[in-house]
Amino acid sequence: MKRRNFLQKAALGSVGITALGSSIAAKASTPNQTKDRQEIPPLNSSLPVVIATWSVEDATQKAWQSLQDGTTALEAVIAGCGVEEANAKGQSVGIGGLPDRDGRVTLDACVMNEKGDYGAVLCMQNIMHPIAVAKMVMEDTPHVIMAGVGAEEFAVSQGFKRENLLTEQSKKDWEIWKKTSRYKPIINIENHDTIGMLAVDKNGTISGGCTTSGLAYKMAGRVGDSAIIGSGLFVDNDIGAATATGLGEEVLKTVGSYLVVELMRQGKSPQEACELAIERIIEKTPNFEDFQVGYIAVNKKGETGAYSIHEGFTITTYQNQKNTISNSSFYNKK
Ligand code: GLY
Repeated sequence: MKRRNFLQKAALGSVGITALGSSIAAKASTPNQTKDRQEIPPLNSSLPVVIATWSVEDATQKAWQSLQDGTTALEAVIAGCGVEEANAKGQSVGIGGLPDRDGRVTLDACVMNEKGDYGAVLCMQNIMHPIAVAKMVMEDTPHVIMAGVGAEEFAVSQGFKRENLLTEQSKKDWEIWKKTSRYKPIINIENHDTIGMLAVDKNGTISGGCTTSGLAYKMAGRVGDSAIIGSGLFVDNDIGAATATGLGEEVLKTVGSYLVVELMRQGKSPQEACELAIERIIEKTPNFEDFQVGYIAVNKKGETGAYSIHEGFTITTYQNQKNTISNSSFYNKK
């Protein structure tokens, strides 16, 4: 579908969508913003499905296998995200994550299940699998969010072991960074950060998880979108789910994943919903050229969507017995 048709279709939706569509259409007529808008890919709807941000074939394979073995969608997501958390070469999640500017690796993660239950850990150190701790916060405490030392102590009380998450490589990279201490995250590298994963089992039951070490060289104590309900992740089992990657500050300001799910509730496809949520950021943030945000979404039927501000965002989908990495469509070719 061409951009014009898409915007025309959007204008037929609710009043809010009409206003967004018109305003983006007006901006898109300026030469420097009419850039390489991609075609919307065809919908593929089949259950079960696992979809994740970035190129994480081993993680989606693990989640898919978990579903085949009869686990819940939530357990599949935790197994899948756990693969990346344990991958010391990945510098954006779990062990090996790039540290904050003081050299501490601090992790944020959350999960949400089909009942609308949610659990999260924020700014937790020394525990490799924050996604599994988030599930325990959800299931085994009267709370939904635990942060910092309290989250770490809770994890240890549940049997998790403390370990140093700063690998030699990430320490070396941080020491190089310290020579300039220039804070301007690199799009799709330092500004790529998060593994968000959504799973729908064969009965249409939906769960999601999101796990990250956050922005490289962030200020100590900074928390992004990934563990915050509605921003980094949202699941509504009647409708679908969405998760985000990229500059958390911008996702938080637009409550991005909730927006994607609400747009699906209004009748948008997962693809259209991701596009409108990215366009919301573009509309409100004049410096959108400087940062990346990407969304993925899935609906109850197993239709998927993905969209990002800039080129370079990849997604991994396990569906129809196939594990596929693809390039997300995007707004702006740099
Ligand atoms: N999207 C992850 C973060 O900003 O921390």
